Amino acid sequence: MHSLFLVLSTKCKEECPHCFYNVEPSRKYNEDLDVENLIRIFSNLRERNIEFYYLTGGEPLDHPDIFNLVRSITNIGAAPILLTNIHRPSESDLENLVNSGLAAMVVSLGRLTSAPILNRIEAELDSIVQRKAMLAKYFPDSISSILVITAFLAPYLSKILQRLKSIGLDTVIQPAFVPHTLRKDSMVSPFDISNEEWTVLMEEISNYSADTGLTYYPDYWNYLRDASGNAPKICRMGSDSAVIQPDGSIHACFHRPDLSAGNILHHDVDDVFNIMSGLAKRCHDARCFGDHCISMFLE
Ligand SMILES: C[S@@+](CC[C@H](N)C(=O)[O-])C[C@H]1O[C@@H](n2cnc3c(N)ncnc32)[C@H](O)[C@@H]1O
Ligand code: SF4
Ligand code: SF4
Repeated sequence: MHSLFLVLSTKCKEECPHCFYNVEPSRKYNEDLDVENLIRIFSNLRERNIEFYYLTGGEPLDHPDIFNLVRSITNIGAAPILLTNIHRPSESDLENLVNSGLAAMVVSLGRLTSAPILNRIEAELDSIVQRKAMLAKYFPDSISSILVITAFLAPYLSKILQRLKSIGLDTVIQPAFVPHTLRKDSMVSPFDISNEEWTVLMEEISNYSADTGLTYYPDYWNYLRDASGNAPKICRMGSDSAVIQPDGSIHACFHRPDLSAGNILHHDVDDVFNIMSGLAKRCHDARCFGDHCISMFLE
């Protein structure tokens, strides 16, 4: 396994309407991750040669032990990577993150995603330009971003990507995941737009796929809209990566709470990883690709 996602908490003050914890509040956890106890098992994790620890949430910067966690991951020779909203880190957070050894930061652009009209989008882009300049003072070579595409953002995608490219902010785009049962009501999913809007959006997705080398990407989007493209054949969740939830339970995938290998804080770590190898087989042929995922673990 080369990476672990640590969900430090599912709480967040930003309240992005498309956030999967707001779209589906039943995914939230009451507790926050017991970081002190997690650090106690780091010597076992070190032996597993996990290279990357993605710190996520909710908002991981609101967890009181975040800097201690970053330092502890660095101390076992692995790379801590923070997933945070671009508006969240203050100058003092950034200083502490640098001093703790943070390897990279992946910023989400949630306020942009929830700015449904052109002049609000333009104002938000201006604010992102300023925030990016501040973050780059501390992490000049290690900031990238994630832009979630919703139905109302789709028509402006070309303009937005051009602007982000002009400030050198590498951006991964992914559709807002909204389960089928909630799709039409939420008005958020980019798979519910008109055929005309879809054609325009797919031109942009094709350009993005050519630029990034993700040649399979348009197929997945078409598959998710109306099953006209090919679905991925392989998913590496559970084998390349797993997710530790705020209560310490460890799942093969964010979206499969049924694939739990036990609790990393309470069970024997070797047993947990043995169970995980079995669960990985259930992710491997990507049969559950659908409502939730276009991820880097799919091929
Ligand atoms: C849940 S957030 C947690 C970390 C941090 N608060 C942030 O916004 O980056 C992790 C990532 O999930 C993305 N995300 C949230 N809701 C999503 C959804 N419904 N569909 C796809 N991605 C989503 C965010 O854009 C972010 O990149
Ligand atoms: S900042 Fe992140 S966790 Fe918070 S609401 Fe937005 S996407 Fe969700
Ligand atoms: S196909 Fe999607 S939902 Fe299924 S295990 Fe892989 S990432 Fe998770």
